[in-house]
Amino acid sequence: MEFRHIPVMVEEVIGLLKCEPGRIYVDATLGGGGHAEEILRRSEPNGIVIGMDWDQEAIEEATERLKPYGSRAKILRESFARLPEILKRMEIEAVDGILLDLGLSSIQLEKAERGFSFREDGPLDMRMDRRKAVAAADLVNQLPLFELERILSEYGGERWARKISMAIVSEREKKPFQTTQEMRKVVYRAIPKRFQSRRIDPATKTFQALRIKVNEELENLQKILDSGWKVLKRMGRICIISFHSLEDRMVKESFRRWERDGVVRIVTKRPLTPSEAERRYNPRSRSAKLRCAERQ
Ligand SMILES: C[S@@+](CC[C@H](N)C(=O)[O-])C[C@H]1O[C@@H](n2cnc3c(N)ncnc32)[C@H](O)[C@@H]1O
Repeated sequence: MEFRHIPVMVEEVIGLLKCEPGRIYVDATLGGGGHAEEILRRSEPNGIVIGMDWDQEAIEEATERLKPYGSRAKILRESFARLPEILKRMEIEAVDGILLDLGLSSIQLEKAERGFSFREDGPLDMRMDRRKAVAAADLVNQLPLFELERILSEYGGERWARKISMAIVSEREKKPFQTTQEMRKVVYRAIPKRFQSRRIDPATKTFQALRIKVNEELENLQKILDSGWKVLKRMGRICIISFHSLEDRMVKESFRRWERDGVVRIVTKRPLTPSEAERRYNPRSRSAKLRCAERQ
């Protein structure tokens, strides 16, 4: 079965980025190319999208989808953490808009062999960029107890972080973790039954925390928040969609710092969230928050 990722808050993004012909945009998290395609359509006939993703499968999917746009879509397998260097290498001084749509795409989540989903059995992998050396199984098999606990608590907001980490350590002494279902079972056993929600799978927070750690998601976001504004033209805009409160806080604080330094104006005083209709149609959009800042 083929899955397609449904892009989130497309109209809001397009409006904020002020898509127009003759402009250059960066889609720094290309995924399946949904946002990128819309930016290309709205900037016809000659707007350009530099699309980057570090996941080879995303690159393949987006390349296929964006074929009709020819050389207007420039697709690169890169991490957005290196955006300034990449633009420099392309001899592009600054761009009119940057989009980051953080987190995971449905294409990644739904494929059991990628190891992101606790619903499917697969290797406990979770690397978005499979060139990276360390997968989730390596982390849970090797990290010290206190570090596991910190990760589950900080990145997952998991109140049972200590119990789960202790269970992981005791289990891995018997046999190293290899699969998603082995991890899921340990989490189920560690959280007392009466505290297990029926609505949200008990393994959700643990899997989210491991994914964030494996992919160093907060560190990468911080890198673009350190310097992202520098590669925007005057009046150019950066839009960031986040799905996690830690990420949203980082974006909010950096935008405020940029504004205090007089280098940007914050366009969205409060983050935009999906409409009721979008939430119903695409439940994955529910936790999305969109913030935008404009270079001065
Ligand atoms: C939510 S999806 C983007 C979906 C896309 N906007 C669409 O419409 O199809 C996030 C994508 O960002 C990619 N990604 C996450 N962190 C990245 C990073 N540091 N560098 C490059 N790509 C990254 C993931 O591999 C994933 O494909």
